[in-house]
Amino acid sequence: MLCGAAGFLGSHLADRLLADGDRVTGIDNLATGSPANLATANSHPHFRFIEADVSLPWTWARDLDKPDLIAHFASPASPVHYGREPLATMAVNALGAMHGVELARATGARLLFASTSEIYGDPLEHPQPETYWGNVNPIGERACYDESKRYAEAYVTSAVRTLGIDARIARIFNTYGPRMQPGDGRVIPNFCMAALRGEPLIVYGDGRQTRSFCYVADLVEGVVRLAKREALTGKIVNIGNPDEFTVIDLARMISQIAGRPLEIVNAALPPDDPRRRRPAIALARKLLGWEPQVTLRDGLPATLEYFRLAAGLPGVLASRRSIVATAE
Ligand SMILES: NC(=O)c1ccc[n+]([C@@H]2O[C@H](COP(=O)([O-])OP(=O)(O)OC[C@H]3O[C@@H](n4cnc5c(N)ncnc54)[C@H](O)[C@@H]3O)[C@@H](O)[C@H]2O)c1
Repeated sequence: MLCGAAGFLGSHLADRLLADGDRVTGIDNLATGSPANLATANSHPHFRFIEADVSLPWTWARDLDKPDLIAHFASPASPVHYGREPLATMAVNALGAMHGVELARATGARLLFASTSEIYGDPLEHPQPETYWGNVNPIGERACYDESKRYAEAYVTSAVRTLGIDARIARIFNTYGPRMQPGDGRVIPNFCMAALRGEPLIVYGDGRQTRSFCYVADLVEGVVRLAKREALTGKIVNIGNPDEFTVIDLARMISQIAGRPLEIVNAALPPDDPRRRRPAIALARKLLGWEPQVTLRDGLPATLEYFRLAAGLPGVLASRRSIVATAE
């Protein structure tokens, strides 16, 4: 069972599980997801979709076959989306996790909760290992997301200790790729759409803040290993790409790939914007034998092309070969 199946990550995870031969029941209320993301999954005989809000009691779950895995990926993930619906965001993470735990206890299914690097807040430790407790503003504009993920982590780990369920938590760092929403306000969609439209790229602050970007195929591989390997009960694992870039580096790279001159407009930093973000992935390497394979330069062309097609814009992509030649 996959909650949040119509979203960016959920839909890629659904496709991967189906390709692995699993049966997948996708649950989603389509708050930020799209049926279009499920085009591949919907054509698969082992996929079915239930439109439901997972922050409400899971009465629909009574009619399902006993699941082996409950993957909880339902939650708005971009500041624009959770800023619009802070209370619903808190509900889906807190109540959704509680319902997931309850179903896992009742059925013996394994639970995988999609947490986030946002639980580290504006980190005082760099890079961020799983042992770092974070530096989060509990009442700021991002608190609805950060704190409800922290609550869900506390709830799930408490349930592992007291109810004996098998649950794992993926702390997901910035992930990008096809099926991100062009208008979700995150830096890669913003830069890609501006570059494709020939508009200046808006950089918040001085652009020297850093981010680490994981290509979606790498993320899904890490998540599947965390979900399927035995003897990982209660494990909390960072999944992300440790290559760190400044926002200006990213702007430069996207402009090159789009074949546009770099044109930047600076704007004020949003509140509680983290200055640095980079996952420590030693635990993922050790427990999952996983590390990212796709560099940012290799993952961006497919992402840019996806945005171009989604927006119906003319083809402006330079060939990969000429991009590399320009960069060098
Ligand atoms: N994309 C990232 O970089 C990233 C980083 C860290 C964590 N995550 C986590 O991964 C998960 C998926 O993120 P995403 O980027 O795919 O976001 P997304 O917005 O594309 O997908 C989330 C999906 O959950 C659905 N949803 C939201 N509220 C729901 C509810 N109450 N009931 C049922 N469905 C609901 C949405 O309709 C959407 O299809 C989220 O839990 C997010 O916190 C994502």
